[in-house]
Amino acid sequence: MKIVLGPASTELGMRIAEILNSETVPVFSKTFPDGESYVRIEGNVKSEETVIVQTTSPPQNSRLVQLALMADAAKRGKAKKVTAVVPYLAYARQDRVFLEGEAVSIEAVAKMLRAAGIDALITVNVHHEEALEKFPFEAKNLSAISFLAEYFKGKELEGAFALAPDKGATYMAEQAGKILGGEWGYLEKRRDRYTGQVSVEKGKFDVKDKAVVIFDDIISTGGTIVAAIKVLKEIGAEKVYVACVHPLLIGDAEKRIVEAGAEEIVGTDSIPSHVSKVSLAPLIGRALKEL
Ligand code: R5P
Repeated sequence: MKIVLGPASTELGMRIAEILNSETVPVFSKTFPDGESYVRIEGNVKSEETVIVQTTSPPQNSRLVQLALMADAAKRGKAKKVTAVVPYLAYARQDRVFLEGEAVSIEAVAKMLRAAGIDALITVNVHHEEALEKFPFEAKNLSAISFLAEYFKGKELEGAFALAPDKGATYMAEQAGKILGGEWGYLEKRRDRYTGQVSVEKGKFDVKDKAVVIFDDIISTGGTIVAAIKVLKEIGAEKVYVACVHPLLIGDAEKRIVEAGAEEIVGTDSIPSHVSKVSLAPLIGRALKEL
């Protein structure tokens, strides 16, 4: 197996290769003056199980194009099978038609990747796993929640309350709750489809004087987490910690979350940032071993 180091995930790709004891293949990339992407795989992938590691966080459009170009190059280089490891899968939140006239963006993206030469895909905590069922190739979703929960357990937060900021994230709170050994619950969140405004209502649980860890898949603008922290503080939570798989942290999201009262924000290296304290390499390495 050869690990192609996509320009968006070079370090993660190297960590995965180290775990698997696999050879890495560097990629030269550049952007032309008109904004078009260029990639060149600098190694031989002929007859190899070829794994391209490339997250698609912002700038997601050019990173998706880079991924498609790397898949095309690998296929031209006669790779045996091309598997894309895309920890953060862009466009996954638009996985249905919410308003008339919309696209199912994630399906359109999957079709483009298939056309480019991708035979299989591995992602992590995709927004709705069911979306992968419609992909035109084998697609697997992994969960990094146990790794995030272990991080907090190691910080003496054993027994902390695990909270999902909305119903869709309940499975994450449940998975984390089992590791932290405390209770878990979720908040009711509503988002205005036109303005994007988030409102959160408290659920039926008691967090008074307790430490709470919020678990979510994505932090984008931070609106969801800020609203959740506000509710938790109102109902007497002692300390609030925040964990997410994909720390997009757009604009001043981090500042707003800290100002709302979060003790710490922890993410994974799905999207490299200074909050990426948990690596996905062991999780992805294990999945690749099973290929
Ligand atoms: C939505 O349901 C997701 O799970 C996240 O809660 C959401 O994408 C976070 O976005 P933001 O940080 O902009 O509120």
